[in-house]
Amino acid sequence: MNDNWFFDDQLWQDFYDCMFSAEDFQRAAQQVDPLFAYIGCIPDRILDLGCGPGRHAIPLAQRGCRVTALDSSSYLLDKLRAEAARSSIKLNIQQSDMREYSKPGHFDLITSMWTSFGYFEDEQDNLALLEQCYKNLNQAGTLLIDTVGKEYLARNIQPVHARDYPDGRILIERPLLNDNMTRVSIEWLLIDGEQVKRTEFSHAIYSGVELADRLHDAGFSEVVLYGDWDAGDYDIEAERLIAIARK
Ligand SMILES: C[S@@+](CC[C@H](N)C(=O)[O-])C[C@H]1O[C@@H](n2cnc3c(N)ncnc32)[C@H](O)[C@@H]1O
Repeated sequence: MNDNWFFDDQLWQDFYDCMFSAEDFQRAAQQVDPLFAYIGCIPDRILDLGCGPGRHAIPLAQRGCRVTALDSSSYLLDKLRAEAARSSIKLNIQQSDMREYSKPGHFDLITSMWTSFGYFEDEQDNLALLEQCYKNLNQAGTLLIDTVGKEYLARNIQPVHARDYPDGRILIERPLLNDNMTRVSIEWLLIDGEQVKRTEFSHAIYSGVELADRLHDAGFSEVVLYGDWDAGDYDIEAERLIAIARK
């Protein structure tokens, strides 16, 4: 597998409809109020790391926040630009590798939404990104990471399964927990009539405690975990791993 799979724009293009449906956009917009509740305020300057087509960046900007939307994919950023223009929304759009974006002390909030953290093969790069986030936040700043927890995956992973779409396409997903359950690798096959598109990707997975420890190691003084967007605890019922890390 290509270690830098996330830089492959063909992947985002081929599987766009599977990842970013209209319902996914709606769900993201509904996460904005709970997000403000978790942070305890409406932040002014926000950096959305790995913003994709702007599922969160757009509704956050609509609420009056000054949003920097950063992503490496030109395909996804074109989608975001089109939507921002259509809705007359102002955003600071940055095409960059998230490891390289430096604006020390600038942001009130940095978000990493929908499992956009842990992509780097070398775990030191994932840790360095947390340290970079710490630097880019102001003194009262907060980092919010929304990802899939290792505990959830261990309980719910399905060996190989398929999803069918109303237009007849079928997505076959084959996930695997590997490297002593420190990573998940996933193969996707999208069958569209006679055509098959295939991709494979992998990312680090963390238990709640592992992610909290890494955030503390990066310098954050307080880390609170939630298991969903309804203020649910990070417990056996948790469907997401949402970490709120304060400087
Ligand atoms: C699963 S998508 C999530 C997108 C968005 N946060 C959402 O909730 O819809 C992960 C995103 O991270 C971006 N990404 C992955 N690696 C990146 C990197 N090194 N630098 C910047 N963006 C990256 C991808 O291009 C993609 O848009």
